Amino acid sequence: FRSCLAVALGVLLALTPAARGDMPGSRPNMLLLMADDLGIGDVGCYGNSTIRTPNIDRLAEEGVMLTQHIAAASVCTPSRAAFLTGRYPVRSGMVSSDGYRVLQWAAVSGGLPTNETTFAKILQDKGYATGLIGKWHLGLNCDSSSDHCHHPLRHGFAHFYGMPFSMMGDLPRWELSEKRAGLERRLHLCLRAVVALAALALAAGKLAGLQPPLPWTPVVIGSAVVAVLLLAAARSLGTLIVHADCFLMRDHAVTEQPMRLQRTTPLLLEDAAAFLKRNKQRPFLLLVSFLHVHTPLVTTENFLGKSLHGLYGDNVEEMDWMVGQILGMLDREGVTNNTLVYFTSDNGGSLESQHGNRQYGGWNGVYRGGKGMGGWEGGIRVPGIFRWPGVLPAGRVVTEPTSLMDVFPTVVQLGGGQVPQDRVIDGRDLLPLLLGTAQHSDHEFLLHYCEVFLHAARWHQRDRGRVWKVHYVTPQFQRAGAGACYGRGVCPCFGEKVTPHHPPLLFDLSRDPSESHVLTPATEPLFHEVVGRVQRAVEGHQRALRPAPLQLDGLHNIWKPWLQPCCGPFPLCWCRPQGS
Ligand SMILES: *[C@@H]1O[C@H](CO)[C@@H](O)[C@H](O)[C@H]1NC(C)=O
Ligand SMILES: *[C@@H]1O[C@H](CO)[C@@H](O)[C@H](O)[C@H]1NC(C)=O
Ligand SMILES: *[C@@H]1O[C@H](CO)[C@@H](O)[C@H](O)[C@H]1NC(C)=O
Repeated sequence: FRSCLAVALGVLLALTPAARGDMPGSRPNMLLLMADDLGIGDVGCYGNSTIRTPNIDRLAEEGVMLTQHIAAASVCTPSRAAFLTGRYPVRSGMVSSDGYRVLQWAAVSGGLPTNETTFAKILQDKGYATGLIGKWHLGLNCDSSSDHCHHPLRHGFAHFYGMPFSMMGDLPRWELSEKRAGLERRLHLCLRAVVALAALALAAGKLAGLQPPLPWTPVVIGSAVVAVLLLAAARSLGTLIVHADCFLMRDHAVTEQPMRLQRTTPLLLEDAAAFLKRNKQRPFLLLVSFLHVHTPLVTTENFLGKSLHGLYGDNVEEMDWMVGQILGMLDREGVTNNTLVYFTSDNGGSLESQHGNRQYGGWNGVYRGGKGMGGWEGGIRVPGIFRWPGVLPAGRVVTEPTSLMDVFPTVVQLGGGQVPQDRVIDGRDLLPLLLGTAQHSDHEFLLHYCEVFLHAARWHQRDRGRVWKVHYVTPQFQRAGAGACYGRGVCPCFGEKVTPHHPPLLFDLSRDPSESHVLTPATEPLFHEVVGRVQRAVEGHQRALRPAPLQLDGLHNIWKPWLQPCCGPFPLCWCRPQGS
């Protein structure tokens, strides 16, 4: 009888963790949805009455909507690095100091360092089936075209299907991107230098009375060849970029190069459906990182011309439809009630993406500024919605300051993992706030970096219920009041085109969310107290900061031919999936 009891107890004990896993409220699946460059003002539930985003709106009705959800950077590479690691990007070195603010090519050597720990890595170790579908843009290789040292599979994702790089305006060649324009400029400079040098050599040779054929004939011929090559390179830059950056990978293999952009949306959706079908019995973590709504706004025919806001609006509405398709897959697999769904955007809408009167970038509602600006609210305040039916209250709205970095400790702890103790984690567990068991977020201060430069900071003064924002540096807008740096693609973080503020600009975000009324000691009795308090917090943060090697600077962020992933022979890099 005793052995019988022992066996029964053993069976019970063995079953307990599994049983706990099935109970609602523990170890949920995680479906994280991240849009690219979507503005907070582009979404119905955040106040847009003319765009149709019924699926995202439904998430908010059924879940918790955050209205002060802040990205750690106003551009994608650093913001995404912070999201995945729960740390300010300056801690992991995923920032620049020289103006090249995101990884510039697929074949650069910079990327998310291997000693950084993503939430995917922790949950993978805890038995989650992990997957990333869509955009990565956090690096690929270090030393060779296939070491994949920065690849998603090295960072805790067991499955990857998507773009290692990012959508860029020049992929379909209809837009002359800043990158392409800059490269063409440099090539033309080289061309002029070669011609000038050849002319000089010729003149010098003549003066020195040197006789043909040496040395100036080979010089002239050589220069002519170099000049023709440079000219050809400038002409074919578009093709080069398309083949170099515009490709799809499945796990470690390039499957399509260049991508056929019109096919990508259905391919990504099919892959999400297959992932969910394969893994519905296990706890899973799926990050769907949309290529929408970044330029070039590739939109399928079903949505073209359907919105009230041109191609940009069409693209937003298609992305919302994709959200609906994926939520439908959860329903079909019967996992909706034990899946935590999260929706966000990596940074605010790009105000500079305008051509004439046409809008190709997002709308940030009442918030000032947009993508690429260090401190202005429009670049960093993004949608943030959590849904977990039966666990999180439906229709709850949280106005407290929260960060995309908070997703890290939140999902790690829900998945039964532990937040790393050997490094600073800047994110805070959101669960109490989402459940409504806590009134205030854990963030007293949030810092707003532009590259490695601290541009602004916010202070949540809980006892007074105020949120203050202090700006140390702001970009100079092209026209006063325009709120954008038109013609420059993206606002700079340093140099002549930014304005340092002594004393800093102070706003009371709780009363002035548009940051339109600068407070002064004359208009705000608390001015000196607030500015002093924030200054002390900033100094404390900076004293404790351990700089890591910058992954986005200098040689780390230039195209290296030997790192170029190619599924056909280099430099052609062309292939098509079998059977299509
Ligand atoms: C809705 O979004 C579109 C697209 O960005 C924008 O043009 C429009 O101004 C927004 N409307 C409102 C009312 O916010
Ligand atoms: C899912 O949860 C909701 C809300 O708690 C509940 O109404 C519904 O019946 C549940 N569905 C299933 C299939 O358990
Ligand atoms: C990772 O390595 C870099 C370079 O050695 C170092 O600066 C950084 O502190 C390390 N990060 C962690 C989290 O250990």
